[in-house]
Amino acid sequence: MTNSNMTNATRAKKSMLLTLLAGTALVAASTANAYNMSADNIEPDINWNDVPMIEKTLFFPGLITYDWINSPEHQGTLRDGFESKTCTSCHQGEEKGLGEQLVKHDRLDRMIDKAGFVDAEFQFANDAEHIYVKATWETQSPAPARMHDTFLYNGNKWTKVGGDRGKNPYSPIYEDRFSIMIDDGKVDQFTQQGCWMSCHQGMRDLGPATARDVLALDVIGAADLNKKDIRKYLPDTRTERYGINWDKVKTRDEIDQLKADGKFVDLMQWRSTRSAPTNSADDGYVLEYRLFDEGKNIFAWNFNSKTNLPKYMFDKSVTGFYALNEEDFDDLSKRIALIEGVNTMPYDARKIEAGQYLQGRINRVAEGSAGDNDEIFSEWKDGQYTVIFKRKLDTGHPQDDKIMEVGGTYDFNIAIHDGQTTTRFHYVTFPFTVGIGETAQGDVVTTTIK
Ligand code: HEC
Repeated sequence: MTNSNMTNATRAKKSMLLTLLAGTALVAASTANAYNMSADNIEPDINWNDVPMIEKTLFFPGLITYDWINSPEHQGTLRDGFESKTCTSCHQGEEKGLGEQLVKHDRLDRMIDKAGFVDAEFQFANDAEHIYVKATWETQSPAPARMHDTFLYNGNKWTKVGGDRGKNPYSPIYEDRFSIMIDDGKVDQFTQQGCWMSCHQGMRDLGPATARDVLALDVIGAADLNKKDIRKYLPDTRTERYGINWDKVKTRDEIDQLKADGKFVDLMQWRSTRSAPTNSADDGYVLEYRLFDEGKNIFAWNFNSKTNLPKYMFDKSVTGFYALNEEDFDDLSKRIALIEGVNTMPYDARKIEAGQYLQGRINRVAEGSAGDNDEIFSEWKDGQYTVIFKRKLDTGHPQDDKIMEVGGTYDFNIAIHDGQTTTRFHYVTFPFTVGIGETAQGDVVTTTIK
């Protein structure tokens, strides 16, 4: 795609969003108990009655990391053939029990009412070009989570308020998420151990890496990625496979080779605040870190960290307001996402009153490989989220996406961050395989629709 084409496509998407957003405002699309999370409200035309419903229990994984799974402390490792067995070959149907046990044994003094598991309903479909994953679950959030990093003006300066439920148990302000991890058989052991391959000691909320430790690392630290924390990574990127290895990073050349060989996993996250309003999910991958695909990402900070001022406020001629009041957070008759070029105008302090809030993040139309997931429909209704994930089987970006085809089988792992939580405080499935189309092999086989 040439640059000028890309710009045209982006412009077309923007104007579509603008038209549809205006349309939605007119019909005031929401009733008290229902809310379309995506501004354009276009649901794919699929007769879901033809697609079998698959129930899965997602469980809280607690402090279980890859090194624990593969250590003698995990009794599974003592059994013959452990390496070649999937979690479910030993733990079939145990999700609920494991979640309840792990939530009890965790250091959850700040999340005392956290459930150990969440039941979700899934449907998997495909057409010649796309896979569709529909998911519905009952949320613990009292309303759709439409705010993320949020800033409050006290008449003098802006401060960040809220935070996830771990940091702010009684008044969290944070998004919910639905994430899909995919591999195509290239990552050794992913079929067996799935997302646990990306979960290690040293990560945020799994101690003990400090910002100073991380900045000093090759590849991850100041000289290269310039990260201050450890996030998901695959064991292949470390010089030692097991044990505490977050600091044992291979060289940049070795890691680039792994990427070129497709030894990364795809990770796409629907985010109730930072992606849903633009009908999208982020598009990333996990290799030496959790990274976003090439191109322009779907969200950005609405805050200038140097001036400590917002970049944008709401364009009153579109929304009817410049900034938010606290009662707007859960007022589903108001659309409160801040979408660049759609309902934004440059920040003007004179228009804001003390006690008002602004979104700390802006949503925007993404470009390049980072913008592949731009047809995601989502809604919140009567305490339940529904997300319909539509993704091209072949995104055209093999450098950071897993390319699928009809007849193929792929490894999937799904996670839900519910109740305004972050990092490891999510619910996960065991890894499972998905076959594309009725003739494919898989724990789940997608139903082909026209
Ligand atoms: C070869 C069989 C086998 C495999 C494969 C296996 N496990 Fe286990 N696992 C066990 C056994 C046996 C125990 C101890 C008894 C129990 O709690 O079920 C155990 C215990 C656990 C526990 C309980 C920990 C605790 O604190 O009590 C968790 C969590 C767990 N396994 C997760 C996993 C995950 C995740 C995978 C896949 C990445 C996996 N296991 C793969 C056999 C297995």
